Amino acid sequence: MKFKDEINRRRTFGIISHPDAGKTTLTEKLLLFGGAIQEAGAVKSNKIKKGATSDFMEIERQRGISVATSVLGFEYKTKKINILDTPGHKDFAEDTFRTLTAVDSVIVVVDVAKGVEEQTEKLVEVCRMRNIPMIVFINKLDREGKDGFELLDEIEQKLHLRVTPLSYPIGMGYDFKGIYNIYEQNVNLFTGDPKKDIEDTIEVKNLQTKELDELIGENAADTLREDLELAEGVYPRFDKEEYLKGELQPVFFGSALHNFGVRELLDCFVDIAPPPQSKESDEREIRPDEDKFSGFVFKIHANMDPKHRNRLAFVKIVSGKFERNKPYRHVRLGKDLKFSSPSAFFAEKKEIVDEMFPGDIVGLHDTGNFKIGDTMTEGEIINYKGTPSFSPEHFRYINNADPMKSKQLNKGIEQLMDEGVAQLFTLELNNRKIIGTVGALQYEVIQYRLEHEYGAKCSYENINVHKACWIEPENEKSEEFQDFKRVKSRFLAKDKQNQLVFLADSQFSLQMTQQKYPSIKFHFTSEF
Ligand code: G4P
Repeated sequence: MKFKDEINRRRTFGIISHPDAGKTTLTEKLLLFGGAIQEAGAVKSNKIKKGATSDFMEIERQRGISVATSVLGFEYKTKKINILDTPGHKDFAEDTFRTLTAVDSVIVVVDVAKGVEEQTEKLVEVCRMRNIPMIVFINKLDREGKDGFELLDEIEQKLHLRVTPLSYPIGMGYDFKGIYNIYEQNVNLFTGDPKKDIEDTIEVKNLQTKELDELIGENAADTLREDLELAEGVYPRFDKEEYLKGELQPVFFGSALHNFGVRELLDCFVDIAPPPQSKESDEREIRPDEDKFSGFVFKIHANMDPKHRNRLAFVKIVSGKFERNKPYRHVRLGKDLKFSSPSAFFAEKKEIVDEMFPGDIVGLHDTGNFKIGDTMTEGEIINYKGTPSFSPEHFRYINNADPMKSKQLNKGIEQLMDEGVAQLFTLELNNRKIIGTVGALQYEVIQYRLEHEYGAKCSYENINVHKACWIEPENEKSEEFQDFKRVKSRFLAKDKQNQLVFLADSQFSLQMTQQKYPSIKFHFTSEF
């Protein structure tokens, strides 16, 4: 197959949702359609179960599973599909944000009864800001939930999306009869049999036919006609170009558990979802069909075996063909590296392959060379942008609890930070180390992993920090900046990239500081 055809048949996307909306179930059903797995239940949920906060073995077990489900590749029709897994647990939200830098589109799952939930709002906001094309799947139609129009309203208002339904439910919960597929103009009747893998669709091009009444009953048929008329009047007509620009989001209804409405979603997805896209670097925009390979690391996974500190770096291929045993430039380190066993990911396994194409994710074995955000090329000096750090929510001092093991502790902290588990800030005043995380769970993960993988012990100590802001002075030599550094010295730290960070102890003090030093910019992400 020609290089360009290989690129054009790839669809790399992520599924985002609030925990429990049905992301794992939907993923599994998509794999079933792709023939990548034979039966339901094969994809293990990688979510950390409620109440497992202090159950370290559970966390370890989950880490194992999440390697296996990090990237799920399968073939459907003529397309090669890569699903990038995003952790649902909110303490790992930063992981999800980074994974979203590697997707070309997104499917958003919403629970019909719960509607739009907090985690979905945050994740959709990130996608919206980057104009990532999104399809919404409203799940669990076999249960009682909110009315279809009410949900569409809620999605518009809470997620600030411009939606248009491409399918519409006929009844719901106990009365759920099926779905009218607006995109394909057919009716799909619900049998309630979760084992049924292919649904029977009945073409209904003309909604006024008596056939529709016979199919779903007169009342339901009338309601459907009214609903569809209303939908047509209220919502914009589907336009693929608008969807691709992130300006219009089609909505599907279904029940992932019952494998219902999933085929419609997948068929529409392969029809409209974008192939691999160009990506901005600090020098220029790189096109996927360029001859030379380039890619970036969006995720690093530590090996499960504590004796070998091998890690797996996940690289999204942006341009060119990746080939086994060919030397590639690690731009940050300025050195060439060769990989003898690059892995490609399939539904349940990873395999060593000789070549891979834009849109694919290649897994590279790493002994400590990679950091999240690193760029690999065939020699060109470029750096991909778009993997910023956000201000953490929690901050604690980290102390060495075993003075004999300070080397191990430092090494461990450094590597865990490269993996993106948390962020490290070093205070300018006294070099004390502060760990910033998105959720409290990370502190336990870090403590556990330091002990088990690096043989080091740590303890934490509270510190009062409200937000970390990355500092950009207009003029480094100005009187104002020198004054800021003097007066605020207690609150200044360096991040791992040696960027200056202001650790504000309250919203109030942040505002006061901003007012007092108008020529200094306070950024809430590390990339500006
Ligand atoms: P997540 O990955 O988004 O966190 O959600 P997951 O797929 O694990 O689904 C959460 C729960 O919702 C699961 O039930 C799952 O079976 C159920 N579910 C998913 N899709 C549907 C649907 O279309 N209809 C109905 N009625 N339920 C659905 P659980 O009891 O938490 O887990 P399990 O014991 O069934 O695995």
